[in-house]
Amino acid sequence: MSVNTVEFQTIARMDDDECQARIVAAREKLGDRLVILGHHYQRDEVFQHADFSGDSLKLSRDAAQSSAEYIVFCGVHFMAEVADILSRPDQIAILPDLNAGCSMADMANRVNVERAWKELAEVLDPDASITPVTYINSAADLKAFCGRHGGIVCTSSNAERVLKWSFQQREKILFFPDQHLGRNTAYKMGIPLDEMVEWDFDKPMGGLTTDAIRKAKMVLWKGFCSVHQVFQAEHIDQFLEKYPETKVISHPECSFEVCQKSEYVGSTEVIINTINNAPSGTRWLVGTELNLVNRVAENSKAAGKNVHFMSPTLCMCSTMYRIDPQHLLWVLENLLEGRVVNRIRVPEREVIDAKLALKRMFEVSV
Ligand code: 13P
Ligand code: SF4
Repeated sequence: MSVNTVEFQTIARMDDDECQARIVAAREKLGDRLVILGHHYQRDEVFQHADFSGDSLKLSRDAAQSSAEYIVFCGVHFMAEVADILSRPDQIAILPDLNAGCSMADMANRVNVERAWKELAEVLDPDASITPVTYINSAADLKAFCGRHGGIVCTSSNAERVLKWSFQQREKILFFPDQHLGRNTAYKMGIPLDEMVEWDFDKPMGGLTTDAIRKAKMVLWKGFCSVHQVFQAEHIDQFLEKYPETKVISHPECSFEVCQKSEYVGSTEVIINTINNAPSGTRWLVGTELNLVNRVAENSKAAGKNVHFMSPTLCMCSTMYRIDPQHLLWVLENLLEGRVVNRIRVPEREVIDAKLALKRMFEVSV
């Protein structure tokens, strides 16, 4: 549905206090008909309105279990798509700003993944020897691709279990779009780096020789997250020189070098819980998005914990940041008037196959 510009522009000019008060009032009026899901990277002004917060796995479960008529997802596009796939047909998934995408998810698409599958078929029979695994940070049609080809979805919190399952099905894995999550997880499971190759989706045959493809156990899509790319191993070294007692914790979208130097590696939910459960007085260096780190730092102050952002350059997820209180209010006030704006609707033909790949994921997750 197109943006009702006039109405949104009125809200866009609204001062923050009024906007916050009207969000609260709209939520109250919508009551049980509405659930708001908020990813940990959301800014505080939006995050505070979430009924449920979490990492991608937790939020996908929350979406599947919700009985609300409207699921407003304060996150990015692929998350709202998952909510639509997993919810009942009469439930409506909404993304407050349709421009809130994920630049990493965009690095793999149906055209370049199908081309890769075809090119791999010149070397081996992919449907017999490769399990396609897509990170949940991907479009619905790629989840459907995995569903159709005996593959599966993973998140940052179940990647190891998913890879184990995938190797039980077939000898190799094509992992997209995040090379780092694939590499960090496979290495932790004991797969040596020389059994992993990078598939450069801009080059014919991924830029690989037939011999390299035959030998590889993991074919890693050359995608990455620009936010997590900022963290460097030197940042850890420099910080530890100053504060050697520091515990380092990173998201698995960080590079191999950063994850190797981190005592803990886990999803956003794992990062938060690990720091929350740590003894008071501990110091933490955290390699993930700024809004999350600032919130954990603030919430841990009372327990005397010091929480630091890993990079000297501050960077946040600019697409998550597109969800602002004004867009949230705009979708809620439209719902109050009986209008649905910014609905996310996955085509029926993709829902069936994508659901299959997600169902396989839920079966192997704890
Ligand atoms: P989590 O599932 O760990 O919340 O990660 C989502 C994400 O996009 C991290 O960049
Ligand atoms: Fe995508 Fe990176 Fe933003 Fe996560 S932090 S939503 S992977 S761009």
